[in-house]
Amino acid sequence: MPEMMRVVEITEPGGPEVLRPAERKLPAPRYGEILIKVAYAGVNRPDALQRAGSYNPPPGASDLPGLEAAGEVAAVGPGVSEWKKGDLVCALLPGGGYAEYVTTPAAHALPVPEGMSLDKAACLPETHFTVWTNVFMRGGLKAGERFLVHGGSSGIGTTAIQLARLSGARVFATAGSAEKCQACLDLGAERAINYRDEDFVEVIRAEGGANVILDMVGGGYIPRNVKALADEGRLVQIAFLSGPKVELNFAQVMMRRLTITGSTLRPQSDFAKAAIAEGLREHIWPHLASGQIGPVMDSEFALEKAAEAHARMESSSHIGKIVLKV
Ligand SMILES: NC(=O)c1ccc[n+]([C@@H]2O[C@H](COP(=O)([O-])OP(=O)(O)OC[C@H]3O[C@@H](n4cnc5c(N)ncnc54)[C@H](OP(=O)(O)O)[C@@H]3O)[C@@H](O)[C@H]2O)c1
Repeated sequence: MPEMMRVVEITEPGGPEVLRPAERKLPAPRYGEILIKVAYAGVNRPDALQRAGSYNPPPGASDLPGLEAAGEVAAVGPGVSEWKKGDLVCALLPGGGYAEYVTTPAAHALPVPEGMSLDKAACLPETHFTVWTNVFMRGGLKAGERFLVHGGSSGIGTTAIQLARLSGARVFATAGSAEKCQACLDLGAERAINYRDEDFVEVIRAEGGANVILDMVGGGYIPRNVKALADEGRLVQIAFLSGPKVELNFAQVMMRRLTITGSTLRPQSDFAKAAIAEGLREHIWPHLASGQIGPVMDSEFALEKAAEAHARMESSSHIGKIVLKV
């Protein structure tokens, strides 16, 4: 095992240019952890927030960006029996994915689905953990219900459309261009709403309202989401790209028995993340192996070009996931 590894670090809070290649010492797996030799690392919006200084890593996590990776188990820490050296895994990480090697709790890794390449497998953990816990565990989406996801062509959105469709829900998605809307339809949405031309509230209310909405936009969308919900509907907030503060008439929440909730994945306990991994392994992984569903890949950049990958993500011109080849 080498002593040093190539990484990309955040030199100071700022734009994509603050991401710079560097060298660090290899991390060692602690009790219950595995060391992964990273082949590909996924790029996610929260990485850009961390880079900008507004999403600090939780205590004990690496300061390097990177919340997911796929590769080979290079070593196992004490107390790990479920993985061995050489296993191919994709894993949710507490941080540190923009590197040649990374450690993570063994229970946060899942097998690379049979037949799937490592670049695609690196796209799975962050969005699947997020969608599973928010749409199904928290939002309680059931077969036959109407599901609306905003940002339908995003990494999260493309996963949410597929998992909701798989569950037997009716899927509606919003996106910002005709091309992005087409991508949502191709993935199984029955209706894609270009929010620049159409009012999603009118479209979804004409169908009886949404039973579950997954929202990353916030801001002015919050009162509009409340209007778009059916009675007993659930609004699940996972980000606030347009800001977290609005004026809202809460009488609607009471009169129509609505639930407004949300969560962020990263600060949750190792135990909670392990429970999400279990749910995914049982309910979703078989469908990834059969090819019934799969990640949508936008583009690939070399690890050293992480700044370019972030610039692409922040241009919002991408559809699906961006990965770094390590
Ligand atoms: N809570 C959690 O645990 C958790 C976990 C992972 C990610 N997230 C959040 O989920 C969101 C999606 O993540 P991702 O990695 O899938 O990101 P992404 O692929 O970059 O997607 C973001 C998309 O949101 C749409 N959008 C709508 N309003 C926007 C605005 N005001 N500013 C920028 N984009 C806007 C854009 O598409 P249009 O062209 O259609 O507008 C954009 O493609 C991010 O906000 C991320 O922070 C939350």
